[in-house]
Amino acid sequence: MRKKIVAGNWKMNKNFEEGMALVTEIVGMLNDEYQGSAEVVLIPPFTHLNAVSRMVAESKWVKSGAQNCSNHASGAYTGEVSAAMIQSVGAQYVIVGHSERRQYFNEHNDWLARKVDAVLTNQLIAIYCCGETLEEREAGKHFEVLKEQITQGLFHLTQEQMSNIVIAYEPVWAIGTGKTASTQQAQEVHAFIRNLVKEKYNDTVANELTIQYGGSVKPENAAELFASPDIDGALVGGAALQSRSFVDIVKAMP
Ligand code: 13P
Repeated sequence: MRKKIVAGNWKMNKNFEEGMALVTEIVGMLNDEYQGSAEVVLIPPFTHLNAVSRMVAESKWVKSGAQNCSNHASGAYTGEVSAAMIQSVGAQYVIVGHSERRQYFNEHNDWLARKVDAVLTNQLIAIYCCGETLEEREAGKHFEVLKEQITQGLFHLTQEQMSNIVIAYEPVWAIGTGKTASTQQAQEVHAFIRNLVKEKYNDTVANELTIQYGGSVKPENAAELFASPDIDGALVGGAALQSRSFVDIVKAMP
């Protein structure tokens, strides 16, 4: 059985105090209300990561993660944060290649491949994001784009390294727009991704790979998405900023 993961990407939201309050609420509500099997990952801004990691350290299934990391190990890279630093505060996950990083910070697949290496070298798990723009989907190019993102960002890895990768399919047109991909659209892409991984590696690697969906996931659509055979969780943005909606999404995962 592959791992189910529901992660909350806070992006650049919440001051420190608000962030601490959100974690306390989420952990408390999950303890009271959740009996399912998903791993829950809280992904706050860097300034909050140390504190959040400590707050969830006692929890067996709530983990923390970073939204980005440097592709360098250390040195004169002002403003950057290394994977080793992230590991040293107790976080376990790092998002690599979020579409906002690709779009606003010009991060390309070859550069992202080096970030994935940095994450894995430090015994962390990479949540590697992929997804097409609306233009690319309308031009019928989405499978081609996804194949390129995944091949160039991940397929230099060994089979063993692939076990520390989570892929998040986040169609750019569904992020923060309220427009979710239909369950059929998401399932189709997830099955395509799993098949790509199977062709490159083997059945075992493909079957064990967690593939999350991201893009306007809400309590109202989570259960339907999670019922699809190849959708193994969610990477949640807006709805992760509120304890009630985030916990309700987690609860949709049996
Ligand atoms: P929204 O849930 O706000 O659409 O954001 C999705 C996302 O980008 C998560 O990484």
